[in-house]
Amino acid sequence: MHTALVTGADRGLGFALTARLLSDGWRVIAGRYLEDWPELPALAERYGERLVIVPLDIGSDESVHIAAKLASAQTNSVDLVIHNAAVSTPLKDLDLRGGLDYGDMKRIYNINALGMLRVTEAFLGLTDAGSMKRQCVVSSEAGSVERCERRAWYGYCMSKAALNMGTMRLYEQLRPEGYTFRLFHPGWMKTYMSGVKSEEGELEADEVAEAAARYFVEPGEANGRLVMRDWSGKEWPW
Ligand SMILES: NC(=O)c1ccc[n+]([C@@H]2O[C@H](COP(=O)([O-])OP(=O)(O)OC[C@H]3O[C@@H](n4cnc5c(N)ncnc54)[C@H](OP(=O)(O)O)[C@@H]3O)[C@@H](O)[C@H]2O)c1
Repeated sequence: MHTALVTGADRGLGFALTARLLSDGWRVIAGRYLEDWPELPALAERYGERLVIVPLDIGSDESVHIAAKLASAQTNSVDLVIHNAAVSTPLKDLDLRGGLDYGDMKRIYNINALGMLRVTEAFLGLTDAGSMKRQCVVSSEAGSVERCERRAWYGYCMSKAALNMGTMRLYEQLRPEGYTFRLFHPGWMKTYMSGVKSEEGELEADEVAEAAARYFVEPGEANGRLVMRDWSGKEWPW
């Protein structure tokens, strides 16, 4: 049985991916960030030991290391990691004229950009022992220098651009060791990035998760290129 780690698995796309992989027969280590959100515990009742829930704040060195230790107590290897957790901000419209909030931007960068690196490093022993050695990174068109059209959203857009660069750096270092990578733009989803379920958006997390799970699991690009694809398989500039 293959084992995956999913960060930000409480709700939104992370939860939908967790449910999808479980129904496809995977064992999933689900990073739990919200103590009182009921969806993961409900899934645990259905899937028993195939769902391992670990507390995980990807913005905290300590939390990530404890999560890796807890995971190591349950499994000797992790085949696939889905770096999904990220935050947005209610301060996204702040701009140069109105004044930027550097504390908020540092918070976003720490989670959205450094979180992926932190998790990759802490789980390296488990992924080195995995059969797939696959790192899947949920990014966004918001991080595409060529395509992003937002007027402000400095912290979020810059954090996703840095996430893309971090993925490229990992690709250069780990690909020679047999690692493979997936970079993903999910599209505009009705999820919880504002703190409540969004009524706006074009896609439900479940339908995106179905496409994403296929993309994450299937064999790679013919020439091993690192590309960003969306839920429909379309390639995006990043
Ligand atoms: N929604 C979209 O339209 C859209 C578009 C492009 C890309 N994306 C990307 O898709 C991914 C999934 O987002 P989503 O839309 O499913 O958002 P979501 O519904 O907010 O889900 C993200 C989950 O990660 C959790 N989280 C927040 N901070 C965390 C931390 N420090 N450590 C671990 N988990 C943390 C969130 O908790 P809280 O709810 O408490 O924050 C939430 O449970 C993100 O990488 C996002 O940037 C989303």
